[in-house]
Amino acid sequence: MKIFIDSADINEIKKYLNSGLCQGVTTNPTICLKCGVRGGIEGVRQRTIEIANLINPYPVSAEVTSDKVEEVISQAREYSKWAANVVIKITITDCQGESLLPAVYQLTREGISVNVTTMTTFNQAILAARTLKSGFERAGQKPKYSFISIFGGRISEEHGVEHAFRVIKNVRDWLDFHKFPGIEIIVGSVRSPENVELWSRSGAHILTIPPDVLSKCLSSARTKETVTQFLDDAKKSMEELEKETKN
Ligand code: E4P
Repeated sequence: MKIFIDSADINEIKKYLNSGLCQGVTTNPTICLKCGVRGGIEGVRQRTIEIANLINPYPVSAEVTSDKVEEVISQAREYSKWAANVVIKITITDCQGESLLPAVYQLTREGISVNVTTMTTFNQAILAARTLKSGFERAGQKPKYSFISIFGGRISEEHGVEHAFRVIKNVRDWLDFHKFPGIEIIVGSVRSPENVELWSRSGAHILTIPPDVLSKCLSSARTKETVTQFLDDAKKSMEELEKETKN
């Protein structure tokens, strides 16, 4: 299972990249705003390129800012020129619930890497996967990356974490059973270390985790206490050794 960093904060991304805990990055307009990205699309372009260069060859997902099929297609074509490891994030539907899969199909046929996002049901995920695979089949080749993003936290808010687990697991089983290689499930909307622990065992290919949640996953009060004890005892032992050497 790979770990992506769900952030546009360069320092946080660097931190986890330097620990071998970042195999990709996901952003969206809300994350960009929270991480201080300003200046509209130009601001997003600059930050996405900065992240893309930093994590290369890992992928960074950048989200289009329209929910009209034609605009999504033209924005995605533009974003895909920013860097070879930019993946275009497209929501499964528009604000009215109308499908944006025609844009996904078109872009996939053009060889553009797409991350179909904001999905909260099994049916959405398998339909997105089917569109991506149909795109590969028509083009005769797969884009570098094809992701389907299931929003575990948002599912949980309505139906609980176990239901989210089952949705993710069922989608993974379906992809494997029907042989959809090259399409990877990203679990997004990860809110807590408990979410990480549960959904890491769901068959998801990738968990995209916000830095604050990842930091909590690494830390434990008992570990801190134990490390302190070890260091204190090491110091005592050194002091004793120094005394013995002097005598
Ligand atoms: C990941 O790709 C998503 O953008 C992210 O996890 C969204 O989650 P949230 O808006 O529910 O926090």
